[in-house]
Amino acid sequence: MRLAVNIDHFVTLREARKGTEPEPVLVALLAEQAGADGIVCHIRRDRRHIKERDLRLLRETVKTKLNVEMAATEEMKKIALAVRPDVVSLVPERPEELTTEGGLSVAANRRALDRHVKALRKAGIRTSIFIDTSPDEIAAAGDVGVDLIEINTGKYADRKPGRARDRALGAVRRAAEYARSIGLEVHAGHGLDYRNLGPIIAIPEIEELSIGFSIVARAAVVGIDRAVREMTALLR
Ligand code: PXP
Repeated sequence: MRLAVNIDHFVTLREARKGTEPEPVLVALLAEQAGADGIVCHIRRDRRHIKERDLRLLRETVKTKLNVEMAATEEMKKIALAVRPDVVSLVPERPEELTTEGGLSVAANRRALDRHVKALRKAGIRTSIFIDTSPDEIAAAGDVGVDLIEINTGKYADRKPGRARDRALGAVRRAAEYARSIGLEVHAGHGLDYRNLGPIIAIPEIEELSIGFSIVARAAVVGIDRAVREMTALLR
């Protein structure tokens, strides 16, 4: 099980004072040194945290794998083609949202996504779609030609241990099994933390987790090196 560390909220801290610290490149390199298998960040239309400058520098410095989350818009496609991350994760985006609220609607946007994914593929960029657990949506992602999907674990993570959480976990497990059966690499993420990720790690089809907020929150208390090492120890 690989760990991709989402560094957005370190950058939220920088933007709280519109200054220069913490420097995302430093954060990314420290996370890699502590064992992260990849670095994730989200460039939003409103540039509320990550900006083009950050992407350029991260592209030059990240040695593991740079995964950039973005909406499937023309503006973002241009940025992806200029920066050339290892992976582009297509996510839905609502301007007022605090964080990504759910998976992308793939079936309803199949034609546009098809063109988008083809353009990124042609440039040698692997593509991912952040997706809820519906098999129809996962099948549509397969049709669109992405290399992998990231299953939204938000519904699971939002619930306390109990029946409703077990149901949400079952949906994630079935989605992972189905996606793997149609040849997609399977990642998962959203809302995962040091306490709730055990049952998700136990799903053998899931190869990588994308975790942000809980690592940043822990890093504020114990430092990024220890926060990432604690998380990788849990995964491995
Ligand atoms: N995956 C996607 C697609 C996301 O948008 C986010 C949040 O930016 C994450 C994973 C990480 O979620 P969290 O910050 O809750 O760990």
